[in-house]
Amino acid sequence: MSLDPSAPSGCPLESSPVPIYEVSSAERARLWADLRSRYGQIAPIRLEPDLTAWLLLGYEENLEVLRDWATYSRDTRRWNEIRDGRRKLGSGLRPTMAYRSSALYADGAEHARLIAPIADALAQVPEARVRRDITEIADHLIDAFCERGEADLVRDYTTPLPALLVNRLFGLGDVYGHALGHLSASLWASDGTVGAEAVARMRDYFVGLVQRKRVRPGDDLPSRMMAHEAALSDAEMADQLIVLAGAGHEPTANLLGNVLRALLADSRIGRDHASGGLLLDEVIDHVAWSEPPLQMLAARFPTRDVEIDGTLVAEGEPLIIGFAAAHADPRLGAGAVPAESALPPGHNSAHLMWGVGTHRCPAQSLALRIVRVGVERLLERLPGVRLAVPAEELRWREELFVRGLVSLPVRFPAVEAPPRSPAADEDDAEGGYAEVDGGEEPVDLLGRVLRWWRGVRAASTAE
Ligand code: HEM
Repeated sequence: MSLDPSAPSGCPLESSPVPIYEVSSAERARLWADLRSRYGQIAPIRLEPDLTAWLLLGYEENLEVLRDWATYSRDTRRWNEIRDGRRKLGSGLRPTMAYRSSALYADGAEHARLIAPIADALAQVPEARVRRDITEIADHLIDAFCERGEADLVRDYTTPLPALLVNRLFGLGDVYGHALGHLSASLWASDGTVGAEAVARMRDYFVGLVQRKRVRPGDDLPSRMMAHEAALSDAEMADQLIVLAGAGHEPTANLLGNVLRALLADSRIGRDHASGGLLLDEVIDHVAWSEPPLQMLAARFPTRDVEIDGTLVAEGEPLIIGFAAAHADPRLGAGAVPAESALPPGHNSAHLMWGVGTHRCPAQSLALRIVRVGVERLLERLPGVRLAVPAEELRWREELFVRGLVSLPVRFPAVEAPPRSPAADEDDAEGGYAEVDGGEEPVDLLGRVLRWWRGVRAASTAE
C-alpha cells in the first residue's frame, strides 16, 4: 500500500483515513515513517473498513495522551459514534475497542475503586510462590518436547506458559489454563466475531469461577479481590478477570517470544548474553523498544475538542496509542531505538511498553518475572538450542495491535525428560478439580468451557 497524496481535503478522519489493516506486518516500520512524513505526529487511519480513528505517532504525543486521563478518557462510551447512535457497543466490535465494567475502561474515582482490588491482590502474591510456579510450568512444558530435539517455541512454550501461570493465580488447575490461553489470545483477534465469542465464553468461565470462589474462597487472586473492601459485584468481578486474563496472557506471551527471537536470531545479542556481557533485562528493554508486544493500544476519547501537533481532534473521536510508532520517533535522537542487531547503548527503560499514568500496567513485575524465568529455564534446560530456519524466514502475525511471531521453530540436542509423578498426570488431566463436571450450577459453567475446549483441541488434532 502507498499513501495517496491526491486524497481529497477536508477533515482527514472522514475524507482520507489510511487503511492500515492492508499493510503487512513486515511493512509496519515503513508505515509509521510514511504516516509521519505525510501527517506529522497524528494520522487518520482505518482500523477496519468501517472503523476510523486517529493514530498517535509521536513519543511526546502518546505520553501526553496517556498521562492526561481527564482530557483523554478511557471510557469507550464517550466514542462519538456510540454517543450519536451510529455504532453499538454490544455488536461486531473487536474486544480491544469494546467496553466492560472494569478498571481498564474507567476514569477517575471509578477507576480508583476498580483497580484497588486488582493492585492489592497482585501485591499479595508471594514472590517465591510465583517463581516456583513459573519454574514448574516451564519445566513441565519443556519435558513435553525435550526428547524430540525440535519444537515450535511459540506453540509449545511461549503461548502456554503465561496462560498456565495466570490460571494458577486464579486458583484453577492447569487443564483450564489451556482453554483460558486459547480464549484470551482470541480477545486480540482482528476478527470481531471471533473476539465476541471469546468474550462470551470467558464470561462463562469467570462467572463460574467467581461463583465457585464465593462459596469456597482460596489462597488466590479472585478470592483476595472479592475480600477487598471495594466489595465488587459478581458481574464486576467477572469483567475484572476478563481484563486480567486478556491483558496478562497475550502481551506476556509475545514479549517472551520476541525476547527469545532476539536471543536466537541475532547472533550478537545471543553471544553477548551468553558471555555475561549483556544482561537479560537489557535484552528485554531492547525488545520493548524495537518489537513491543503491544504495537498499538485502544483507545482514548477526548472529553473536549483538542489540538494535537496542529491537528484538530473533535470530542469523542478515538485516539489509538501507537507504542511501536512512538518508539521509532526520530525526535528521540539517533540510537534511542537501536536497529536490529545493534545493542542498546545503555540500559534505556524509558519505553512506553507498560503504559503511562493511571492505567499503567499493575502487573509489570509479575510479567517480567514470567519472561525472565521463562527465558532462563529454557536456555538452562536446552543448551545448544538454535533456530531451525534462517532468521529471515520468521514471520510476524498479521494482527494490528499485538506483535508476535507466527512460530519460532528451534532445534537442540535431545535430552531425556525426568519421569512424571502419577499425581502430576492426574492434575494435568483434571487440574485437581475433577468435580467440575458435576452438574451443580456454580461449577457447571467452568465445565462447559472445558468441554468446549476439549472439542476445539480434538478438532485441531484430527485435521
Ligand atoms: C509483557 C507483558 C505485559 C505488557 C506489555 C502489559 C502492558 C500493559 C499496558 C500498556 C497497560 C495499559 C493499558 C492502558 O493504558 O489502556 C496495561 C494495563 C493492565 N495490565 Fe498489563 N501488561 C503485561 C502483562 C500483564 C499481566 C501479566 C497482567 C496480569 C496478570 C496484566 C494486567 C493488566 C491490567 C489489569 C491492566 C489494566 C490497568 C488499568 O486499567 O488501570 N498485565 N498492561
